[in-house]
Amino acid sequence: MAKDTLTITDNRTGKSYECPIQSGTIRAMDLRQIRTSDDDFGLMTYDPGFTNTASCQSQITFIDGEKGILQYRGYPIEELAEKSTFLAVAYLLLDGELPSESELEEWRSEIVQHTMVHENIKHFMDEFHHDAHPMGILLSTVGALSTFYPDARDLSDPVNRRLQIVRLIAKMPTLASFAYRHRMGMPYSYPDNSLSYTGNFLSMMFKMAEPQYEVNPVLEQALDLLFILHADHEQNCSTNAMRSVASSKTDPFSAAAAAIAALYGPLHGGANEAVLRMLTEIGSPAGIPDFMARVKSGKARLMGFGHRVYKNYDPRARIIKEMSDRVFEVTGRNPMLDLALELEEIALKDDYFVKRKLYPNVDFYSGLIYQSMGIPVDMFSVLFAIGRTVGWLAQWEEMLLDSEQKIARPRQIYTGQQFRHLD
Ligand code: CMC
Repeated sequence: MAKDTLTITDNRTGKSYECPIQSGTIRAMDLRQIRTSDDDFGLMTYDPGFTNTASCQSQITFIDGEKGILQYRGYPIEELAEKSTFLAVAYLLLDGELPSESELEEWRSEIVQHTMVHENIKHFMDEFHHDAHPMGILLSTVGALSTFYPDARDLSDPVNRRLQIVRLIAKMPTLASFAYRHRMGMPYSYPDNSLSYTGNFLSMMFKMAEPQYEVNPVLEQALDLLFILHADHEQNCSTNAMRSVASSKTDPFSAAAAAIAALYGPLHGGANEAVLRMLTEIGSPAGIPDFMARVKSGKARLMGFGHRVYKNYDPRARIIKEMSDRVFEVTGRNPMLDLALELEEIALKDDYFVKRKLYPNVDFYSGLIYQSMGIPVDMFSVLFAIGRTVGWLAQWEEMLLDSEQKIARPRQIYTGQQFRHLD
């Protein structure tokens, strides 16, 4: 009869071992019993970049990368994108269920009470150089929040944890818009709590001297949808950073600063910025063959393409592409769109990309939308961070409540010299 176990024969010793298989995995610690002698440490796995290692059990986000499926708490991303709002999705990711109307209203008013930041945060931001990258400003100020809320170090009380979660979700748009306005040399604009979460962000970004900023409903909806699409993506690099750093039981603001730092990189959240820079460099369809030749010879990467998990079209990229027409009706068509469409078409037919299953990811089209909304290129990853904060916090709390989790501390294979002496 078939058994859910794996039998391993160690050809060094001829011994066999039986390891249980659960949810398609074996426990790495079950390999430790495989030794050649009593003083042998035991077998380990070697997996740089965690390409085939599950680091946790999670109930938050499901991805089937072969089929291009993404679900938050079991709901398809397509349905959430069409019928929900970012704050409702945040509630879903954190609590496991979509809120009722009254729960959503209560959740909204909780968030609204925490949108302001301490005036000292503003002064702190003033000290950054005029051309400081807004992601650098964001990660520093989120880290600095830990000094304003020392109570965040108490991780044992669920009410206290909830307060920190609300604080960070509420303050992210404020910090992000302040980072932008500092960069532009404009006075900071305070939150307008009569607006939606996303409407308020647009107001803090673009309000000038008018008494109340008039939010364009199409752009508000589009940005809200982009926040939904970025809200969580299981164990990506920044979420892994959040979990890993927080596993030492540091406060959530410090851990979120580490997550933002991870997101900053061009292989992760920084890819949306890199896509725009790449399109600018290619310039026109005439530049595509040259660029593709560089990609294929390993001298460049087609940014916004490829994914560790998706070996099919990223469902988020499809939703963004479909939504972009509505945005361009308001903002005018981004002249880079045709170049991006042509680049995609060429890549999807090219053997190099077909063989490696490289498809557009979430970052390929999002930057074009941000840009046509008047958002500068170096703010793109900051917008990604606003949405992903919810996922980081949901994953953070899940980790804290998981009794199997321990401080993240990988093993290594030592390849250096040993037992040397100075004389
Ligand atoms: N352009 C050209 N070649 C690529 C690309 C690309 N964008 N992505 C992967 N490849 C090639 C890579 O060179 C390798 O080829 P070979 O087998 O001949 O060495 C093969 O495809 C597998 O790539 P990998 O780097 O081993 O795959 P990975 O799972 O480690 O990396 C990735 C995933 C997303 C970092 C990578 O696809 C990449 O660098 N993409 C461009 C950056 C990007 O768009 N990042 C955003 C990811 S989605 C949102 C997010 O996480 O922020």
